[in-house]
Amino acid sequence: MKVVTCIAPVNIAVIKYWGKRDEDLILPINDSISATLSMDHMCAKTTIMCSPDFEDSKFWLNGVEQSLESKRLVNCLQEIKRLASAEPSNAEMLRWNIRICSENNFPTAAGLASSAAGYACLVTALANLYGVKTDLSALARRGSGSACRSIYGGWVQWHMGCNPDGSDSIARVIEPSIHWPEMRILVLVVNDARKKYSSTTGMNRSVATSDLIKHRACNVVPKRVTEMREAIKTKDFNKFAEITMKDSNQFHAIALDTHPPCVYMNDTSHAISDMIHAYNEHKGVNKVAYTFDAGPNACLYLLESEVAEVLSLINECFPSTVAKSDYLRGIPLNIEK
Ligand code: DP6
Repeated sequence: MKVVTCIAPVNIAVIKYWGKRDEDLILPINDSISATLSMDHMCAKTTIMCSPDFEDSKFWLNGVEQSLESKRLVNCLQEIKRLASAEPSNAEMLRWNIRICSENNFPTAAGLASSAAGYACLVTALANLYGVKTDLSALARRGSGSACRSIYGGWVQWHMGCNPDGSDSIARVIEPSIHWPEMRILVLVVNDARKKYSSTTGMNRSVATSDLIKHRACNVVPKRVTEMREAIKTKDFNKFAEITMKDSNQFHAIALDTHPPCVYMNDTSHAISDMIHAYNEHKGVNKVAYTFDAGPNACLYLLESEVAEVLSLINECFPSTVAKSDYLRGIPLNIEK
């Protein structure tokens, strides 16, 4: 019997991935950029056992048995087994059945990047099991697009690539976490219920029905990625915050331009974004940036020096959000691999 256990972090995009050009290979229509969070607060954990005595293979997510038929899981497994078979000493183990046990220590499918951490973790564990040494970002991408960014720590860009086989659609580090050590993230859990439409459903519907999404992918994101890379490299928080908030709002504008529309933010989400704009206006410069994924929960980027003041403001204005959230501790970025 062989057993491996891995943990993997969550990442929060500041330039959003929204829309695929290839559903099976999970190839995006635009580049995206994210920061990877420290694993002290939010992470996925996967244990895989492999034994000649197992009569079948099984998979549990948060204690609930899942089908092993899911296309994405099958794609990840097949690809790793194909790479592993290049090593003749793996031949016997590749015939054994496996047991996969995955857990998240935060709400699953509530727009808190659970699939990103989950698939990054699964792929890392499988690669360790079979001794596969390759770029894991391309493998994690086959499970969930945003998962490819969770393979690395710090500031990460997923390059959309242009090869039809997806070989150049990979994640790369822009800067390690140590580059901007004062950066913190606050996660405000507005609602931890499962989201109405998954990111996968929502983005497919956007590609099929939104006119704005084409404009975003072709004319907006390429320029924004260049500006965002520069803001990160020069640690220009004011610019970083402006782009982050504009990109989040453009993504939600596209979700609304989708037919039928995908409504992810709720009244509390909008009230949080109003509060951040009022705070920044009061300070005369952007001191906090909000970003919302495919759900109502807010992620705030800010520097350590702002954490205490912003937390007391959130406490005052959104007491129930604070009460529910375990992640209001100013999460630092994760160290790079
Ligand atoms: C809004 O990676 O969950 O969080 O590739 O279909 O699994 P699939 O989608 P997923 O989409 C994430 C969308 C987002 C933006 C982002 O993380 O870049």
